Amino acid sequence: MQEFYARKEQKELIDAARAARSKSYSPYSHFQVGAAILTKDGKIFTGCNIESASFSPTNCAERTAVFNAVSEGIREFTAIAIVGAFENKPLSYVAPCGVCRQVLREFCDPDTFQILLAQEDYLTRSYSLEELLPEGFGPENFA
Ligand code: THU
Repeated sequence: MQEFYARKEQKELIDAARAARSKSYSPYSHFQVGAAILTKDGKIFTGCNIESASFSPTNCAERTAVFNAVSEGIREFTAIAIVGAFENKPLSYVAPCGVCRQVLREFCDPDTFQILLAQEDYLTRSYSLEELLPEGFGPENFA
């Protein structure tokens, strides 16, 4: 893990996650999350959390972003930025849940894919996917 203030390129991805967070549909938890995933060819796809009155269908922001990109035919990624907080509270670090880590593992290289968690002031923590999902089970287990 590394911690630093985001610079221009990281800020662009974090700002996309912040904009996506404004679309969060979270009337039950009031916890709003946004994510922005960067493709290998430099495009950004975003997502927010989407809750459900029956709770379990709730989709996290990270998965919304991945599914958004994959449903457009994109499967290669280099980084994701994640921001979250309760409504009207400053952003603080929100790490991806276990299910989202597993979904990232499907499409992202565990050693090189970067997971950026950002606070309100752009103080940012960066992890590799391997750090957050060590010894993960992935597509190569089927090869
Ligand atoms: N949530 C995310 O979108 N991403 C995370 O990394 C953690 C949790 C959402 C799911 C739910 O809508 C709300 O935050 C509270 O768990």
